[in-house]
Amino acid sequence: MENLTVPQGTFQLARFPLRKSKNLRAWDAADEYLLQQIAEEKLLSAESSLLIINDSFGALTTGLASFKPTMWSDSYLAQQGTLANLKNNGLATEQAELLNSLQTPKGPVDLIIIKVPKSLAMLEDQLFRIRPLLHAGSKVIGAGMVKNIHTSTLKLFEQIIGSTQTSLAKKKARLIFSQPDLTLNPGETPYPSSYTLENSDLLISNQANVFSRQGLDIGTRFFLQNLPKSDAPQKVIDLGCGNGLLGLMAAHQNPAAEVTFVDESHMAIASAKANFIAAFGPDRAAEFIITDCLNGIDDSSSDLILNNPPFHQQHAIGDAISLQMFNESKRVLRQRGSLWVIGNLHLAYHKELRRLFGNCREIATNKKFTILSAKKR
Ligand SMILES: C[S@@+](CC[C@H](N)C(=O)[O-])C[C@H]1O[C@@H](n2cnc3c(N)ncnc32)[C@H](O)[C@@H]1O
Repeated sequence: MENLTVPQGTFQLARFPLRKSKNLRAWDAADEYLLQQIAEEKLLSAESSLLIINDSFGALTTGLASFKPTMWSDSYLAQQGTLANLKNNGLATEQAELLNSLQTPKGPVDLIIIKVPKSLAMLEDQLFRIRPLLHAGSKVIGAGMVKNIHTSTLKLFEQIIGSTQTSLAKKKARLIFSQPDLTLNPGETPYPSSYTLENSDLLISNQANVFSRQGLDIGTRFFLQNLPKSDAPQKVIDLGCGNGLLGLMAAHQNPAAEVTFVDESHMAIASAKANFIAAFGPDRAAEFIITDCLNGIDDSSSDLILNNPPFHQQHAIGDAISLQMFNESKRVLRQRGSLWVIGNLHLAYHKELRRLFGNCREIATNKKFTILSAKKR
């Protein structure tokens, strides 16, 4: 845990989940810049309504808890981090209302602060959805690290909210000030969007924040071409399911399989569920779980886990999540059950799998990806 000192106070903050290698802080310079700006410009009073969007681990929500904010996020990890950080600082979790990305905040809102998300589509969706919450005096402030703010980012603010300017950079962070123009008529969010899956007539629906939203990812395609074959009754988990294509195809190839879809993104789970029901109707059994990796899923309960691990957490890059996914897969697999993983060749997942499972088989490799399988013995 590290201390963040801002005009609102000093707060002890940790990322969620807590990891052994604590080299990543729970906030960035853009959070500090925003909190300083809000204090200096006295942008909030006791009566203000405040909406915080994409707070990474609750630094903003904790720092501004006295204004009873609404925190709106697609990420289960971000919300768990926010709850933990509120508690760590002696604040009641009821100080903040936590909404997930599928819910819509109530308006009118006086101040909206939005950390620029990794996905431009997600920003577009969020800006469209906050527009009806604005009044003529509302303030909309975006924040992010300079490297994540592009001309396309500012264009979205300009087109959907109104006239937009940026601040000077401070510690490589920048603020975006967007003046609501209530006369604009930018239309409505185009999300969820869909594409037809190649070699099939399946229409794959994707909420804005879903991995490879515009079309089949090349790694996922290679995985789909090499899925394990079985017609035995099996419990299958699609771990980090995104739009659910891996689990969907596993269910298609094996009518006796029961698939559980797991992701930490609310939009991913909603998309996977919509796609599964569109493909099989409402009666085929399946589960859809929002959690951190396989947290909360029973030990020795699954025969097969399919995993295309993330290598980003919000804007940070690391292999901590894939390692956690492999570790938890070993716990959740039954004896002789197997974990199938796809990774970029340079990621060297085989070393970790061999260390954990004592074995690792190469299923298929092309110029970019390798598919590996490790069996629980
Ligand atoms: C590379 S994408 C794979 C999506 C899909 N399985 C595919 O192959 O197209 C990785 C997925 O892992 C999810 N994810 C990231 N961190 C997670 C965590 N801690 N627990 C569960 N899912 C996570 C992401 O939201 C994302 O949907």
